[in-house]
Amino acid sequence: MNDRDVSQGRRRFLIGATSLVGGVGVIGASVPFVASWNPSARAEAAGAPVTVNIGKMEPGQQITVEWRGKPVWIVRRTPDMLDHIQAANDLVKDPESKAPQQPAYIEGIYRSIKPEYAVLVGICTHFGCVPTYRPKVAPEDLGADWLGGFFCPCHGSRYDLAGRVWRAQPAPLNLEVPPYRFDDESTLTIGLDPEAA
Ligand code: FES
Repeated sequence: MNDRDVSQGRRRFLIGATSLVGGVGVIGASVPFVASWNPSARAEAAGAPVTVNIGKMEPGQQITVEWRGKPVWIVRRTPDMLDHIQAANDLVKDPESKAPQQPAYIEGIYRSIKPEYAVLVGICTHFGCVPTYRPKVAPEDLGADWLGGFFCPCHGSRYDLAGRVWRAQPAPLNLEVPPYRFDDESTLTIGLDPEAA
């Protein structure tokens, strides 16, 4: 894949993001991205925190919101998915995520504040394509050892359901975890640290 292909891949995200953030509005995000491109919407794009209602997310569901012009995924992980993260410890390059790809208050193999919810920047750490969410175990195209995760279509990098990159992939690092906090049981804000952090 050449640079032109990669930039086309990123353009596809920008087009896709418009419709995806529309979907977030449906589930109750408090920030309307596409309803009107007003000064506050421009402020959001420039880096303001983004508050998302996650109260109606189904188990296993992934949603995408835009923060600082990047796609940020939220995945509501099931107990099986958490087991699969545990099982992937031997497959991934940096199981405890020692490389600084997350805020200091994010620790452990699930790379999240609450294991049930993954919050990840959806940009491949190789050349910046947007990986796809592939939660199904052992699909034909990804093979019997696939435990669910994210697959980058540009050069084939594999990440598990915690955004940890497998060994021997083009991508060098785990997916980034942005700063975020839970405001209450059903609301989280991307771009703000927890009060105690
Ligand atoms: S951009 Fe190369 S593997 Fe993702």
